Amino acid sequence: MALKDKKPKLLEVEDLYTYFMTESGVVEALDGVSFDVNYGEPVGIVGESGCGKSVTAQSILQILPRNGKIMDGKIRFQGHDLVGLTDLQMNKIRGRKIALIMQDPLSALNPVISIDEQMTEVIKLHQDVDDNEALEIAIQSLDAVSIPEAESRIFSYPHEFSGGMRQRILVARALALQPELLVADEPTTALDVTIQAQVLEIIKDLQKKQDLGLMLITHNLGVIAEMTQRVHVFYGGRVVETATTEDLFSTPQHPYTRALLSSIPSFSAEKGRLEVIPGFVPQLINPPKGCRFHPRCPWATEICKTKPSMVDLGNGHATACHHYDKLEEY
Ligand SMILES: Nc1ncnc2c1ncn2[C@@H]1O[C@H](COP(=O)(O)OP(=O)(O)OP(=O)(O)O)[C@@H](O)[C@H]1O
Ligand SMILES: [Mg+2]
Repeated sequence: MALKDKKPKLLEVEDLYTYFMTESGVVEALDGVSFDVNYGEPVGIVGESGCGKSVTAQSILQILPRNGKIMDGKIRFQGHDLVGLTDLQMNKIRGRKIALIMQDPLSALNPVISIDEQMTEVIKLHQDVDDNEALEIAIQSLDAVSIPEAESRIFSYPHEFSGGMRQRILVARALALQPELLVADEPTTALDVTIQAQVLEIIKDLQKKQDLGLMLITHNLGVIAEMTQRVHVFYGGRVVETATTEDLFSTPQHPYTRALLSSIPSFSAEKGRLEVIPGFVPQLINPPKGCRFHPRCPWATEICKTKPSMVDLGNGHATACHHYDKLEEY
């Protein structure tokens, strides 16, 4: 057990600060974000729009927009810090060890290049294989995501596939190299609900088969419940709660998580009401002092104007709330 404990985590983000320089000022997009993903573990990242989910993914892969910069913190991948690596060093990790799937399958595929070329190019870049072997790997990967007649369809162009099929192709391309970590940023938001479910099912299936670490970014708590074992809840550029998916739904310990849970129609339907979280998503140019949720929080008191630290509640459950132990009384 002691030895096992010493093994580094697949991904450990520690006290990460990522800022954007804009004409209106500095956007403090990530303000000390810490979380981890274990080997082979499906983890969810959830939080409302603008809370820093995509910026976290971009920071990990170092694909931030030009005006963005990691100011401080560590991103340990298999024990090695990625912050400060050169582009050349990151190129060996991106795609090969950490794969990314984004929301929009059309923009991720080049419309004028056939699928076989788009897939084999990536495979040949990272693996010592010839054209035929690369094509074989690509076809197998398309098979694995249930693209019918992959052997012939692989020579088609992106527009010859439906949106759902294109997203499957991206999943296939991302997983062809058997990465250790898949970062999926809202991978199905652009798809119809039924197609969403199919693509998620495919990701879930491959995650298990390939024993893949999954960092699934979504604002959909239904997807979190379906796909993940552990969740990190983001608010205003910070992680405010971390728990197993089960504990998060049964005993949320941060007022923001509670608000988030009660704002889902299917959850609050039992209580006969539909809550929306009052107040506004925080501006990250001049963010609220202390707990960033305090201006919207029904439990807030004077102390909430100071920054709460993460309190360990046991069983991997942690919350950043000054009043966590009093929430039950309300
Ligand atoms: N290039 C940029 N320049 C300035 N600010 C940016 C830039 N990119 C992101 N931001 C800001 O960083 C913050 C976090 O953005 P991010 O895209 O990570 O949100 P998100 O959680 O992914 O939201 P969504 O659910 O809408 O995708 C936001 O306040 C956003 O406005
Ligand atoms: Mg986003």
